Amino acid sequence: MTETERGCPYSHVDFGLDTEIYGHYALLDGHREESRFHFNDTTRRGFYMLQRYDDVLEGFQRHETWTTHVRSALNPEPGTALLPQDLNGEAHAKLRRVLNPFFAPAAVKRMTPMAHERCVELIEELRPKGSCDFVAEFAIRYPTDLFLALLGLPVSDGEFFLPWSETLFAGFFGGDPAAAAAAKANIIAYFTEAVRERRANLRDPREDMVSRLVEARIDGEPISEQDILTICMTLMLAGLDTTRSALGYIYTHLARHEEDRRAIVADPGLIPAAVEEFVRLYPLVIQAGREVQEDGEFHGLDLRRGDVMWLGIGSANRDPRKFPEPDRFVLGRKGVNQHLAFGAGPHRCLGMHLARLELAVVLKEWHERIPDYRIKEGTTLVERGGQLTLKTLPLEWEV
Ligand code: HEM
Repeated sequence: MTETERGCPYSHVDFGLDTEIYGHYALLDGHREESRFHFNDTTRRGFYMLQRYDDVLEGFQRHETWTTHVRSALNPEPGTALLPQDLNGEAHAKLRRVLNPFFAPAAVKRMTPMAHERCVELIEELRPKGSCDFVAEFAIRYPTDLFLALLGLPVSDGEFFLPWSETLFAGFFGGDPAAAAAAKANIIAYFTEAVRERRANLRDPREDMVSRLVEARIDGEPISEQDILTICMTLMLAGLDTTRSALGYIYTHLARHEEDRRAIVADPGLIPAAVEEFVRLYPLVIQAGREVQEDGEFHGLDLRRGDVMWLGIGSANRDPRKFPEPDRFVLGRKGVNQHLAFGAGPHRCLGMHLARLELAVVLKEWHERIPDYRIKEGTTLVERGGQLTLKTLPLEWEV
């Protein structure tokens, strides 16, 4: 039986390619309105695209039979191990119970003073210059420093940690594989040393994450050293690039929409609502992958064990059936927090409260100090495909 006979038109669109900014949203909007499902044949295994809000949400809820054996529809082959992502069912729930306390609202609140302090330091470093590449000089540095603090590691290590993590990210998106492998080895050695140090000098496991991982028991067994290292690596991979990307889209928007910028400058109390609407409007994890574990059916779509699913976060967040005038930034939009930017179901983003904190702190501290800025004239903004991020965002302001 051919795929078309299974009830789905073909799509040949490669969502992994770089485009001019917002190019991916335009492609996704077109797809969603053309037909409900598509079979996309641009990867070796191909994948079925769920695109409407209700379908994508239901896809996340089918977690018992649609698993993270495939994490990204675009890269369905098993790659770097990730925890907790790679686990499903009870094993996943048990590890989440160990990790959740560190990412719960109360824990994130504990980080707030430090988050403000570090943010102000970085802004003050840039402010006298009157310009910066916001992506490289701020948007990636800030989450890296907070990530190190979260793990209980010295923020000053960002100086050498950041170039390693950047080289590793670049490797996932076509960069030099040998350099990426060397960077990965450095990062693993760095985490290994942190774990060794905590084993020798355990700190308060309620406040120190590496100590908690060293001391935790699941079914009476300690978490293996290998898994602790994988968890640290996962948090780095999941938390840095995403926050950088969100900041890039938010600052592009604010530089281009003076009225929205003025609104949050005049009333910083609007910032939490603005963050939520930004995260809805500019979803950067445009899809989560899943692998179907048993033959079945999805609203008339015939599915087989092993099929790869694209849960289209980028389409769902901009689905007019759910969010009227979806392409507009609407401060105080009703029901905005039902967006799927952080996923849904058991794999919902572990770091979402931290991400919200980071974005809100940056918006507050930056606009207090640099309320007016513009994108350097003549700049063409390019977004990296796959998981969206702006390659560069040159900003200028008066000093
Ligand atoms: C704006 C920023 C962020 C966005 C848009 C985002 C988005 C997402 C999405 C969509 C998922 C679900 C993937 C799936 O269901 O397959 C996810 C999972 C995850 N995120 Fe985030 N994320 C962000 C920031 C962070 C941060 C700051 C951290 C931690 C430092 C983090 C850690 C994780 C982890 C560990 C998972 C896997 C959860 C699991 O499988 O149980 N994320 N994120």
